[in-house]
Amino acid sequence: MKTHELINFGSNFLKYSRILSNRIDSEIILSHIMGVSRERLLIDEKDIEKNKIRKFKSLILRRSKNEPIAYITKNKEFRSANFFVNKNSLIPRPETELLIDPIAKIFKDKNLFFLDAGTGTGCITFSILNELKHSRGIGIDVSNKTLTNAKINLKKFKNRVKLLRKSINEVRNMKFDLIVSNPPYVIKREINRLSEDIKKFEPRIALDGGNDGLDVVKKVIYKSRYILKSNGILALEIGTGQYLSVMKLLKASNFRKKVLIKDYRNNVRCIFSTI
Ligand SMILES: C[S@@+](CC[C@H](N)C(=O)[O-])C[C@H]1O[C@@H](n2cnc3c(N)ncnc32)[C@H](O)[C@@H]1O
Repeated sequence: MKTHELINFGSNFLKYSRILSNRIDSEIILSHIMGVSRERLLIDEKDIEKNKIRKFKSLILRRSKNEPIAYITKNKEFRSANFFVNKNSLIPRPETELLIDPIAKIFKDKNLFFLDAGTGTGCITFSILNELKHSRGIGIDVSNKTLTNAKINLKKFKNRVKLLRKSINEVRNMKFDLIVSNPPYVIKREINRLSEDIKKFEPRIALDGGNDGLDVVKKVIYKSRYILKSNGILALEIGTGQYLSVMKLLKASNFRKKVLIKDYRNNVRCIFSTI
């Protein structure tokens, strides 16, 4: 079978399984198997070997059952860097990228010591360490399995980062210039309304924010009062529609807002605050 025939085959199979991104997914899966970029795949028409066709079909089958493409290729791009990801970690999202530029601006040329609460793949920690050469950080997570992935992704920075299996409420005896967190913030009863890709495959512990979506957000805010240096910054990603309730929690803990970041739909998605 030739490249375009196989792409058409995969795309039609996925279309039949109601996968809207069928064409691009078929191309991504084949380029992943061939070890070339999508662009290269599309210009270099080839006869594909039998074992690669078999592999392609098995991955197309996984995608037809709604498994996210990032778990199939074990890769997700975040701020132009590639992150290893599998079902043990939340797939990094574009809105999380919004946290990084303001952090880089605020702490430019400073000796930053930060905590990433709920580090997942380590994408936030990686981006900060990459932007700010004088920074050091600690990434914590309650999931041992996601920490294994973070370790792979942060290998390059192993002298500037420590990864610990800990809940935010267990952090003690340290003081940070910055606490950054993209905590789980989906309201428990709304998880069932998420797309199949998310609710069937992504780790519950990375999504479930309890009955009001704010269980972990509350823990992060409460703890930050004690482990932030004076003038330190708490940078939180929040869910759409959570701005007012999170501001209330912050005020109750004596935080005042410093920077708000909105997504392209004009929803506040990140709050930077200080005591
Ligand atoms: C929404 S994911 C974010 C992952 C990553 N920071 C990112 O932005 O892609 C939330 C992460 O918080 C972790 N987590 C959940 N409860 C936690 C807690 N109490 N303390 C620390 N981490 C927690 C989850 O295991 C998950 O990896």
